[in-house]
Amino acid sequence: MFLRYSQMLFLILFMITITNIRAQTRPLTKKNVIIRPFNNTVSALFVFGDSTVDSGNNNFISTVSKCNFYPYGRDFVNHIPTGRFTNGRLVTDFMASYIRLKEFVPPYLDPTLSLEERMTGVSFASGGSGFDPVTAQISGVIPLQVQLEYFKEYKMRLVNEIGEERTKLLISKASFMISAGTNDFVINYFNTQFRRQFYTVSAYQQFLLQHTQKFLQDLMAEGARLIGIVGLPPFGCLPVVITMNTAGNPLRPRQCIDSYSVVGKEYNFLLQNMLKNMNMNMNGTKLTYGDIYNPLYDMVQNPHKYGFDNIYSGCCGTGLFEVAILCNPNSIVCGNASKFIFWDAVHPTQATYYNLFKSLRPTIDIILKQ
Ligand SMILES: *[C@@H]1O[C@H](CO)[C@@H](O)[C@H](O)[C@H]1NC(C)=O
Ligand SMILES: *[C@@H]1O[C@H](CO)[C@@H](O)[C@H](O)[C@H]1NC(C)=O
Ligand SMILES: *[C@@H]1O[C@H](CO)[C@@H](O)[C@H](O)[C@H]1NC(C)=O
Repeated sequence: MFLRYSQMLFLILFMITITNIRAQTRPLTKKNVIIRPFNNTVSALFVFGDSTVDSGNNNFISTVSKCNFYPYGRDFVNHIPTGRFTNGRLVTDFMASYIRLKEFVPPYLDPTLSLEERMTGVSFASGGSGFDPVTAQISGVIPLQVQLEYFKEYKMRLVNEIGEERTKLLISKASFMISAGTNDFVINYFNTQFRRQFYTVSAYQQFLLQHTQKFLQDLMAEGARLIGIVGLPPFGCLPVVITMNTAGNPLRPRQCIDSYSVVGKEYNFLLQNMLKNMNMNMNGTKLTYGDIYNPLYDMVQNPHKYGFDNIYSGCCGTGLFEVAILCNPNSIVCGNASKFIFWDAVHPTQATYYNLFKSLRPTIDIILKQ
């Protein structure tokens, strides 16, 4: 490997000292429309995880894992760089409007959120995070376990504002979405020695599953009843992973590194089994698995079916390694991001997220029917 992720982080830190990129976060000039009132089948949407579902929490903490500047958010409402790690909306935003709650899921750490906005759901996710607490430490972001602490704090505030009974009802009728795990492998396991020196790949998969199970149990103990968790994507297809594995050998064609993706595929299989077992001895709570591996792999295999003509590099910069601060106002950006599967070297475009949302829709419908 020619450019390890840790070296990239160093490069990012270096870039920060030489560039002066100011966050351009502005309040949404258009009010986030609350589509239906609290009294609904689904009261709210709560989100936990990594950059695939972080709508801007990292803006409020001290980390280099941020993207609240152009060209991020280029295709968002009013072209606002909200801190979402893409050019537009995330799957969870599409979900919130599909279940008729609101247009966007705001970040919990935004201190300006109204009570109404908090009551219809927030995201606790943090870009760079994972189920393994060490993963979040590497990027200085919010571990899943701490996201859960924020959820407890959220509940306490709500109890003070609307009372215990209504809070309980709201939580029991809320939908929960969890998306994490890629960073545990890509940033942590395959990139550093912290875990690799002690765990084989399969031991690390088990280790992550234990953390996942504990997280789900803790969430249920807090009153969560409808919980969806997505598996891992084929992370061997991320532009940065391809670059790390082909750089130094420019003649090697850019293509998915299947030896990486297969680790995610195995993990997904194990995760589904775990959820099945957990569902067997539960009453009132339903854990639902959401597959993003196969839909994303299909986009990579059949890009034209989806209007994509660029598969293995991102829209921002060279598309080979730029992410977060390396994709900034000075970067050259592609004209039409909808022709790209990836926005930067790690994160999908809004177009890809929309396709993922469409493929998850039948699963969402099942959750809604509970
Ligand atoms: C819930 O909404 C229905 C109509 O949509 C209304 O009749 C009912 O009174 C509402 N219940 C509460 C508790 O607000
Ligand atoms: C299932 O329901 C029973 C009776 O209501 C209760 O005692 C038990 O704790 C519940 N189990 C779980 C896992 O919630
Ligand atoms: C951008 O690309 C998408 C997908 O190929 C296409 O449907 C759309 O018309 C393009 N938009 C423009 C402005 O060219």
